[in-house]
Amino acid sequence: MELLQDFAIAIMAAGKGTRLKSKRPKVLHEIGGRALLLHVIAAAKTVVPPEQIYCIVGHQAEQVTAAVAHTGVRFIAQPEQRGTGHALQMVKAWFTRQGEPVPRNLLVLSGDVPLILPETIRRVCEAHLGEQAAMTILTAVPPDPTGYGRVLRRTPEGVEVTGIVEQKSLRPDQWSAPEINSGIYCFQTEALFARLDLLSTENAHGEYYLTDIAAMLVEDGERVVAVRAEHVDEVLGANTIAEMMHLDQAMRAAAARSLMAQGVTIFRPDTCVIDAEVTVGADTILEPYVQLLGATHIGSDCRIRSHSVIQNSTLGSGVLVRNGCVLEGAEIADGAVLGPYAHLRPESYIGEGAHVGNFVETKKLRLGKGSKANHLNYLGDAEIGAGVNIGAGAITCNYDGVLKHLTTIGDGAFIGSDSTLVAPIRIGAGAYVAAGSSITEDVAPGALALGRARQVAKEGWAARRKAKREGI
Ligand code: UD1
Ligand code: CA
Repeated sequence: MELLQDFAIAIMAAGKGTRLKSKRPKVLHEIGGRALLLHVIAAAKTVVPPEQIYCIVGHQAEQVTAAVAHTGVRFIAQPEQRGTGHALQMVKAWFTRQGEPVPRNLLVLSGDVPLILPETIRRVCEAHLGEQAAMTILTAVPPDPTGYGRVLRRTPEGVEVTGIVEQKSLRPDQWSAPEINSGIYCFQTEALFARLDLLSTENAHGEYYLTDIAAMLVEDGERVVAVRAEHVDEVLGANTIAEMMHLDQAMRAAAARSLMAQGVTIFRPDTCVIDAEVTVGADTILEPYVQLLGATHIGSDCRIRSHSVIQNSTLGSGVLVRNGCVLEGAEIADGAVLGPYAHLRPESYIGEGAHVGNFVETKKLRLGKGSKANHLNYLGDAEIGAGVNIGAGAITCNYDGVLKHLTTIGDGAFIGSDSTLVAPIRIGAGAYVAAGSSITEDVAPGALALGRARQVAKEGWAARRKAKREGI
């Protein structure tokens, strides 16, 4: 999408979020697996370049800044949080101090209104220019407007607004005013800056309300207009955990709908948790109670069975993930089969058509094409070739109490059940390790290694024991 000229964006993100009752700053709470503020920044970046996005930070500013600095936006400090009007006073002061040219239009977004869509931001900017307004307010009519500021129109059909009244200042005859202020506005910057210092704190919260600017402009004969959002969820604010979870659900439902529209079958989508960044190929099936989190990418024709949690992992096509698997930072090639109840930890690479079965834990593993570790294994810090069979209960002993060591197993090797491979160790291609062996020395290709006591069989032992006990 083309970026807009003559616009800068200010994102208000300095508030405490008192209503959340949380240690974490409000704008760093997550919905859809991503901090509120990051959602807003992502939408803003579709409209202007990051150097023209100013985040107003105050409460736990260091933490907020650290969490979003990678986006390339700029920061303006609001050390004391004295209201949304005060937040914009800080922006004005910043421009004055820096001597930077003031952008002609300033779009103001709220760090706690995270579902705003790029299209809607654009619509507000375009309406603002088209209407030649001094201020354009994005509004909505939700089922329950309680808690929001209300936008009062001059006439019911007209676009012109006479002012915004905060919930606590509504007169009884205004209680049912249905149209809410989203906290998203476009201003002619000069018109805004000229009035910010006239704001007062004589109101229910004792704060500088940015919303008071609307009536001030109208009084001066300036044009203030409203644009209504098409989807109510887009403009809902997140002031409490309950509101946040409502938005989280709305966002995940949207993610599930969009995947289904791309040919993904999701049984009981209401039970699945799918983060915003996740991609899934067509004809993949997600069973109930699946979680796909973070940067997870799944190919086509896969089946993810119930109660699997897949995070920051990449799966090829035709992969079967049976019930109850936990994957984190894993890469799975085409046609692999996992689980049930496999635990793949970071840097696990599972080759094409390979099997990782019940109660197998992996970490920093490369498992080659077609290899199988099907029952009760621990495979950590291991490089395993193609066509290898790892018997039930076999494990790599990768840790000596201080350092981690590597196990290497060549193509076609056979590791007998219940073996322990004490790393660092190399098992050559095509070698056999006998069941129950403790292997501490390298095994040459094609060799058979036995690392266990030789079996002793005592003929007639049971009868002799019985006789002894009975004193015969
Ligand atoms: C605000 C609006 C209200 C609107 C609602 C929409 C005002 C006075 N009221 O109310 O009309 O319906 O948003 O969601 O603006 N912030 C700062 N610095 C401050 C105070 C707040 O940066 O000093 C930030 C907050 O971090 C937040 C945003 O501004 O991201 C909005 O503040 P909040 O206190 O949540 O305002 P609301 O009471 O929701
Ligand atoms: Ca709010």
